[in-house]
Order: sequence, then structure tokens, then C-alpha cells
Amino acid sequence: MWQVLIKISLLSLCCAAATVPGKPSSSVRHFPNDFLWGVGSSSYQIEGGWNADDKGESIWDYLTHQNPEKIVDQSNGDISADSYHQWRRDVQMVRELHVTSYRFSLSWPRIMPGGYMNQVSTAGIKYYSNLIDELLRYNITPMVTIYHWELPQRLQELGGWTNPEIIPVFQDYARLVLEMYGDRVKIWTTINEPWHVCEHGYGVDYMAPSYNFPGIPAYLCGHNLLKAHAEVVHMYRNEFQQRQGGRMGITLDTSWPEPRDPDSAEDREASERAMQFYVGWFGHPIFSKHGNYPKVMIERIRNLSKQQGFGARSRLPEFTMEEIHRIKGTSDFFGINSYTSNLVNSNGHNNTGKFPIPSFNHDMGVVESQAGVDWPGSGSVWLKVYPKGMYNLLMWIHREYNGPEIIVTENGVSDRGGLEDYARVDYYNLYLSAVLDAMEDGANVSGYIAWSLMDSYEWKAGYTEKFGLYHVDFNSPNRTRTPKISARVFSNICKTNSIDWSYRPTLNDEQLVVAARLPAESMEPNSASTLNWSLSLFLAILLAWHC
Ligand code: BGC
Repeated sequence: MWQVLIKISLLSLCCAAATVPGKPSSSVRHFPNDFLWGVGSSSYQIEGGWNADDKGESIWDYLTHQNPEKIVDQSNGDISADSYHQWRRDVQMVRELHVTSYRFSLSWPRIMPGGYMNQVSTAGIKYYSNLIDELLRYNITPMVTIYHWELPQRLQELGGWTNPEIIPVFQDYARLVLEMYGDRVKIWTTINEPWHVCEHGYGVDYMAPSYNFPGIPAYLCGHNLLKAHAEVVHMYRNEFQQRQGGRMGITLDTSWPEPRDPDSAEDREASERAMQFYVGWFGHPIFSKHGNYPKVMIERIRNLSKQQGFGARSRLPEFTMEEIHRIKGTSDFFGINSYTSNLVNSNGHNNTGKFPIPSFNHDMGVVESQAGVDWPGSGSVWLKVYPKGMYNLLMWIHREYNGPEIIVTENGVSDRGGLEDYARVDYYNLYLSAVLDAMEDGANVSGYIAWSLMDSYEWKAGYTEKFGLYHVDFNSPNRTRTPKISARVFSNICKTNSIDWSYRPTLNDEQLVVAARLPAESMEPNSASTLNWSLSLFLAILLAWHC
């Protein structure tokens, strides 16, 4: 029965595709010829080899070894997808996807085991050098993230990002990688998702180093992180960029905060405030005309700090004028990671009850929830499918920062396993349509990087949530990789520069053999969500028809 519904929905989708999120269009829409297509991964999530050669310990090694109970399946990234050894196969997969770029990150403690420049690992340097050469051999542009959450544990013992010592030390690390790889790498991002690094690392017990210290250290982290980012970009511009000819930016992240009641001015204000706290915290100092933190953050945190007895000194540190100027403009493009949306409203008039005081959430004063929405689910509780959120987010960045060049540096969806991931196919088609809608409405989006190349270590969710275009058999010694249906569809999108809604291949011989070996429960993990999804699409289309 549900297959029939999917087919009917898909047939309707061919005409209705462009109605998501809102524009009718009868012809096939193409991405520009020079659009950057990519696929992404990060070092801790795929490499394994946690103590191979002379690699040092990272905060994720430390957290997963000391506190396995904090990880859903008590697992760690010790071996993960073993990309430390399987990197040639990774490049082959990247080629199969027909992307022009591979976004991966460098493990700081693999390169500098103790975090400082007094000890540099030849094996670590060589590992990334080989990977870069292999990519270039096939004309794939390496897009390198200098920091995707793998802080050397030694530096954490000094307070990590809350200690200003991180600024020159991060700069030393960045200088080394620019010297080693800058001749071959033309797209750099300094730091992946500062909001996650600071609030999820220091404010709440979510990501390493799991401080669970709300309201204070996250803002110290953000302050140092912004300065460290800016110093690295200035160093790149002064010493490397001209000779190496690359570009350097930063990647921010957020879910889109959709006003719970679009007719309520208070809910729309809560949505705007959430954007300023999530994206503006780092975006305003770098991308806005005047720099510095967003006014709403400065004022709210200053007033709340005073009320809470912190005296005249706000918990949000202040920049000097010189620092404001030094940080402003330090990104050659706007990298954005986004997966989902939330409904938001203000935390009442007196902002009490919901959140610890002080805390980031209390400072923001916005309640976010997905309760009651009819958006299709995924393999992660936090990730529901609402493509219009991507459109809204891109348009917000476009308006707020005066039309910067935007690269969607991460977007994708999780499930619980299996190769027949039609829900992921739907997700990519829908979200890419939303990206096209935003581009047609003026957003300057120059690239899209799918997350993720392969199933990997999903941080606190361990191996329970899968984001890969390629399935990884974590029980096989060489971590066999097999393309899922979505890999073939995404490859077709990149090859043709367009979305073909009718392209829904079935398992080929290679996939059938692997699928037959998978445990029964993961054969069709998404049947429930695909069904819900198709049903809601079907109903939405019928409704749209009637309106
Ligand atoms: C991170 C990735 C992660 C993805 C899905 C992003 O916030 O950059 O490392 O796998 O979300 O949770």
C-alpha cells in the first residue's frame, strides 16, 4: 500500500516539487555550471587510528575512554571507519559521487600530539598530504577544516577555548598546516560550528569537554575563538594567500527558528532573537557592517548579569574597538551547516521557569520545540524534515549580511541503517530545491556539501545514527563501504547539475549482496518515516491542489 502512495506522491511531486517551499515551476531547474558540489566528513568521526604512530590524545579520545556511559552505545572513535588506512577507498567514493570537492578536517593531535609546535608528527603530516595528493590527482578540490572539534587533551587541561592562550597556539597549528598544505589546498575553513564548540562543549554536558557550566565559559570560549579565527585569517592573508591563491572562511551552524505563530509579533521577535544568538553571536562580529556582538546579545546579557548579581561586568566579554575592527571581514565566504528547524516562541514575559539561571538559553529567552509539528522524522530525535527552513535561513543570511557568498557546508539526514535510503533521497531533493528557491530569490549560494560521505561516529549518538551516502560495515576488518541508493541519486544530481525527481534506482547487484547480509531490522529502517513522509507529502499536495 505504502509503495503505491509513494509513487502517487512522487508523480505529484514532479509537478509539485517547486512548490516546496513555495514557487511553482514547470521546467527542470539547473544549478549554475560552476556550482561547487561536495561531500563532507570529519577526522574524529571517520579516521580511527586514535593512537596510531605518534598521535596525541584528543578531547574526544579522553571523553569516550573516561566516560563511555555518556555515549549512547558506549562506543568510541578508536577505529571508526578506519579512514586512517582506508583513505584511498574514500577518494574513490568521492570520485564515484561526481562531486568537485571533498570537505574533510585535520586532527590537531595527529599533527601536533601535545597541541604545541615543539612536537610535530611526521606520520600525521604525511597522512593528510597523501590524501590531498590523491584528491588532486582526480581533480577534486580539497576543502579543509582546520578545527572540527578535535582539541588536544593537553590544551583542554589548560582550559581549552576558555583560555586566551589558545589564540597563539591555534595560530601556530594553523601556520604549520598552511605551510604544509597551502600550496595544494585552495578552500579553507578555520573552525566548524563555533556555537557547538562553545555552548555544547562548555555550557551543557553534550559535546567534549562536557563542562556542564552554563552561562559563563561558553562566552569566554566564543570570545577567544573569534579572536583565534581572526588571527589565522589575517596570517593567511598577510603571509600565504597571495602566493597560494586560496580562500579562507568559517562555518557557522543553526537550525531554523520558525515562529510558532507566524501572526504573532512576539513569536517573530523570538525567531529573530534566536537567529542573533545562534548565528549572530559569531556572524555579526565577522560579517556585519559594524562588527561586534549583536546588540540584542550585548544588552540582554549585560542586563541579566546585573540582575543576577554579577555587578557591572557582563558575562559576555567586551571587545575593544581595535578587536572589533580586527575581526570584522575575516571570512571570504559564509559557510553554513543546517539540518532542521524548530518552532519558537518567547519564554514568557518574565523569562522564568524553563532554563537554568544564568545560561545561554535563559539569556536568549526563546523556547524551541518540535512538538506537534507534522514534519517527517529521521534517525535522530532532533532532526525533522522541513525544507522551507533551509530557504528561510539562506534568505536571512542574505538579508542580514548584505548578500555574502554562501556555501552550505553541511546538510543531510540520518536514519538507522540499510541501503534503501529513499527517505534520504527525498531529503536531498527537497532541501536542494529549497536551496534553488533561495538562489532564485537572490541568495548568493555558490556551493553545497552533503553530509556525509559515509556512516561514521556520530558523537554522543555513537554508531546508532547514520548520515552516510555510503554504508560502512563496522563489523568487517577493512570497514567495507557500499553505496546506498542516495549515493547514486546524489551522484546523478552532481553530474547533471539538476534534480531529477523521477530518478529512484533500485538496489543493483553489488548492493543486493551487501543488503542480504545486513541484519533484518536495518534492511528497511525508514519504512515508518518514509510512510509518514509520503503520507504527509501526499496530503500536503492534495491540500495545495484544493486551495
Ligand atoms: C557536525 C557533524 C555532525 C552533524 C550531524 C554537525 O553539527 O558538524 O560533525 O555529524 O552535525 O549531527
